[in-house]
Amino acid sequence: MTAKVRKAVFPAAGLGTRFLPATKAMPKEMLPLVDKPLIQYGVEESLASGIEKVIIVTGRGKAAMEDHFDHSFELEHHLEARGKTALLATARHAANLADVSYVRQKQALGLGHAVLRSRELVGNEPFAVVLSDDIIDAEVPVLLQMLEVYEKYNAPVVALMKVPRERISAYGVVAGEAVADYSGRGSLFRITDMVEKPKAEVAPSNLAIIGRYILTPDIFSAIENITPGSGGELQLTDAIKLLLKSRPVYGYVFEGTRYDAGDKQGFLQATVEFALKREDLGPEFRAYLNSRAL
Ligand code: G1P
Repeated sequence: MTAKVRKAVFPAAGLGTRFLPATKAMPKEMLPLVDKPLIQYGVEESLASGIEKVIIVTGRGKAAMEDHFDHSFELEHHLEARGKTALLATARHAANLADVSYVRQKQALGLGHAVLRSRELVGNEPFAVVLSDDIIDAEVPVLLQMLEVYEKYNAPVVALMKVPRERISAYGVVAGEAVADYSGRGSLFRITDMVEKPKAEVAPSNLAIIGRYILTPDIFSAIENITPGSGGELQLTDAIKLLLKSRPVYGYVFEGTRYDAGDKQGFLQATVEFALKREDLGPEFRAYLNSRAL
């Protein structure tokens, strides 16, 4: 029997420099795709996958996230008094969405370090890690797809996506062997090596790590046993590579469309696609785009 994955960790203490000046005084996790902050997409995906508790690793200047997942009595009172029931429900939804705990990462020392900060709140059980920059539009939530793999193989799983060689050095990259008898959705590799942000010439494959992980609690001691890597930071990729010495780790090429919403191009594309999908906005927005198509 595999232990149930109940908790999802959201590293969210990064400085968001790719989105300055918008992120100077506002967490990048609060940038809205259409009308919903990035982090809420990740939280909703987690809950739709059966996750019960959300742990946000936060830092200075990130208080807006805590306010977002809490009640705003003034706002709710205002909407209630004016009979704006749909908006009231939207405001309350974010507050009631999840059981959220926060832990502080006082220095931006890397993704591995951020995950290590969640150790006390995670405890001795498997957990998910969600990078809210990676927005994934999928029929079956990607975390749920990965949990199916985790439950079958009882081993850590990282999300993978094929990336063109000229862009590969922006990612963690794996080497792996296809699991021959795998019969689920997507495709599955048993990972043999991993490297964080390799130069394109030495990248072991075109399979990039995307920001969804199912991890086991032995990752915490692995993080303690690595030294700073790419960018002088403690890299989660290096800690998972260390785990490879003692246990199998799987890479799962998911079904779905991923947008790098931490990047301006990816953010704009996600905004357009999500707006087009909306019943209330899509038709008019499509007509607008068509009217100005070059
Ligand atoms: C992080 C991980 C990297 C992964 C990427 C996916 O990098 O360290 O392995 O490929 O997320 O988005 P970051 O983009 O935070 O530099």
